[in-house]
Amino acid sequence: MGASRIGIFYQVLILILGIGLQVDAMTTVTAKVGDTVTLFCESIKDEDLTLVSWRLKLNEADNEQLISFSPGSNKITKKDIPGYKDRITMNEDFSLNISNVGIQDEKIFFCFTLVGSDIVETAVLIKVYKQPSNPEIIQPAPFLDEGKLQQVGVCVVNNSYPAANITWQYNLKNVDNNSPGVKIVEKITLSDKGFYNTVSSLEYLSKREEGRISFTCQVTYFEDIDRRTSKVSSPVAVFVHYNTSRVSLQVSPAQDIEEGTNVSLSCSGDGYPPPDKFTFTKNGQEKAVSTNQYELMNVTQEDTGEYACLQQDNPDIKDPVNITVHYLALTMNPNENVSKLVGENITLECIAVSSGTVNVTLMKKNNIYPNPITLESLQYSHSGTYTCRAKIREVKEMKREKSIVIRVEGKPRINKLTKKVLNNTKVISCVVEGFPKPIVQWSINGTAPKEEPIKDRRLQWCHKITVQPSENITVTCTAINTHGQDQDTVNLTAMRFKEPVDETLEQDPLDPNKKSDKNKGNDQAKVIVGVIVGLLIAAIIAGVVYWLYKKKSPTSKSKTNERGTADEIKKINKGDNNHTAGSSAV
Ligand SMILES: *[C@@H]1O[C@H](CO)[C@@H](O)[C@H](O)[C@H]1NC(C)=O
Ligand SMILES: *[C@@H]1O[C@H](CO)[C@@H](O)[C@H](O)[C@H]1NC(C)=O
Ligand SMILES: *[C@@H]1O[C@H](CO)[C@@H](O)[C@H](O)[C@H]1NC(C)=O
Ligand SMILES: *[C@@H]1O[C@H](CO)[C@@H](O)[C@H](O)[C@H]1NC(C)=O
Ligand SMILES: *[C@@H]1O[C@H](CO)[C@@H](O)[C@H](O)[C@H]1NC(C)=O
Ligand SMILES: *[C@@H]1O[C@H](CO)[C@@H](O)[C@H](O)[C@H]1NC(C)=O
Ligand SMILES: *[C@@H]1O[C@H](CO)[C@@H](O)[C@H](O)[C@H]1NC(C)=O
Ligand SMILES: *[C@@H]1O[C@H](CO)[C@@H](O)[C@H](O)[C@H]1NC(C)=O
Ligand SMILES: *[C@@H]1O[C@H](CO)[C@@H](O)[C@H](O)[C@H]1NC(C)=O
Ligand SMILES: *[C@@H]1O[C@H](CO)[C@@H](O)[C@H](O)[C@H]1NC(C)=O
Repeated sequence: MGASRIGIFYQVLILILGIGLQVDAMTTVTAKVGDTVTLFCESIKDEDLTLVSWRLKLNEADNEQLISFSPGSNKITKKDIPGYKDRITMNEDFSLNISNVGIQDEKIFFCFTLVGSDIVETAVLIKVYKQPSNPEIIQPAPFLDEGKLQQVGVCVVNNSYPAANITWQYNLKNVDNNSPGVKIVEKITLSDKGFYNTVSSLEYLSKREEGRISFTCQVTYFEDIDRRTSKVSSPVAVFVHYNTSRVSLQVSPAQDIEEGTNVSLSCSGDGYPPPDKFTFTKNGQEKAVSTNQYELMNVTQEDTGEYACLQQDNPDIKDPVNITVHYLALTMNPNENVSKLVGENITLECIAVSSGTVNVTLMKKNNIYPNPITLESLQYSHSGTYTCRAKIREVKEMKREKSIVIRVEGKPRINKLTKKVLNNTKVISCVVEGFPKPIVQWSINGTAPKEEPIKDRRLQWCHKITVQPSENITVTCTAINTHGQDQDTVNLTAMRFKEPVDETLEQDPLDPNKKSDKNKGNDQAKVIVGVIVGLLIAAIIAGVVYWLYKKKSPTSKSKTNERGTADEIKKINKGDNNHTAGSSAV
């Protein structure tokens, strides 16, 4: 079913040769392969029919009768024409059905009627259409080489009737057949069943900048007498290949390469596909042939040089890059912890070796020393950590640091041995220095000593004991370390006697009534000076009073004079005082 009857009458006069009959016009009926087509008989008139017959034009000379009907006998006669007998039926309106239409049916059929003695014959042309297979691109090129006219693929469209046309599209736009970079060769063949198989091959001259190109082919075919349809193939993507004209070498890190780090060289080419092998050279000598990566592990200053990567098949294409491996080696002299004796000398030095301009500092805590430095006559205070720091100006973040510990050792020394009366006890302090830390031993007769916690002062230690002697005793403090020993003694009076004042007796800071001997002495001096000055003033006042008395002046005047004299006395007093202080200091 679905055969369409075209109501178009072609004003074409066809002379039916041989018969000599004149046919008015020819109707064209279209049908798709496999359909059933109905041919209407245009020559039927509402008159008494004697005969209706459908004929097929075999050639210019012959018509073959296929089927006929004579109303008189009401009989349909089918002639045994191969290929038709089983496919034709005549309908009641005398139209002819042809089932399973094929291209062999694309012929002219005649409806022949006999009405009385009038013969009328009308022609019907069957036009057959066959929708082709979907277009398909076979043998697609894996890639296109730049600048070469090269086959992209072959578009195949099978079983079309009539012949279909193939066009090519480049990135969805039609390919211009007349362009110099395009060559299309089309070949049409007939299949066994008489359909057209169309094969179109496309050759294309690609350019490198085209990159990836998508090709499709489109088939345009007649679906009906005036209706064209097209179908598009699946796209085929092709990459344009081109040679590398430039390579580029990337170094990571690009700058500030430090010794001991890893450096990665990576090479790339501008060709497509990108080259997968490169030769890496250093100072012109081949170092490696590898993919685009070349690693320098744990670089040293020997790795400094001109590196290049070059394309394997064309060594002229290369990219050289200079790589400088910076190094900064710092040593300290002496280069390990040292122990020295008090009074010895030591020289410290920071030695930096580097590829660039180095800035070296020698320091201890926050103090910066000249480099090198000789520490003469070492003291315990020289003990500590000495640090060398080196920085290189060319590479930021590149620094080194070395530290050593200098230990100043010496035999113990008792710096102070003092006693103090405190709270009805006597506290003896023994302040020692020395390194390693001295062990302190007390030697006393009398009461058992009560040792107090050792106080760690800067560079020295303070040992204390508390005693309550019942007799006059001697206390010995002995400090011992690996380098020797020191010892000092102090005399303690029994608790019941007053402690005689000597240089080892410390004043109790909690007892404000007790004053140290020196201060006490000073005060006594002041008291004496005060008494003398007082006597002087009294004498002067007495003199002045006597003089006033002699002059017999008024009391008011005498008051002013009195004050003036007092001021003078003060001045004198001050001067005397100064003098006294000066003489007491001597
Ligand atoms: C002839 O074909 C038409 C459609 O083209 C269909 O409707 C009709 O039934 C067919 N007649 C017979 C006798 O098969
Ligand atoms: C088209 O026809 C050719 C030749 O008969 C055959 O080799 C090919 O497979 C067919 N292709 C399609 C898509 O039908
Ligand atoms: C195919 O191309 C020919 C020649 O250009 C043209 O005559 C014909 O009508 C075309 N067919 C279709 C289906 O477009
Ligand atoms: C790096 O090289 C130095 C000197 O060649 C070597 O002492 C060091 O162990 C190496 N480090 C590593 C991680 O390989
Ligand atoms: C130096 O002494 C310090 C502190 O005592 C210590 O941490 C360090 O390991 C010593 N260094 C050497 C090289 O002995
Ligand atoms: C330390 O140096 C001073 C001055 O150079 C020198 O007089 C002294 O002998 C040196 N002391 C030692 C222990 O070398
Ligand atoms: C003195 O002794 C009293 C009582 O024995 C005590 O409370 C006080 O804390 C002591 N003072 C000192 C400084 O030891
Ligand atoms: C201290 O002890 C010594 C000997 O152990 C002794 O000779 C001396 O008399 C003692 N002194 C006192 C005050 O006890
Ligand atoms: C302690 O007393 C003795 C004798 O009593 C005396 O020889 C010695 O010099 C005194 N020592 C001190 C440090 O005062
Ligand atoms: C103990 O010392 C005190 C003061 O130094 C002194 O007055 C006293 O006589 C001494 N006692 C003895 C037994 O030596």
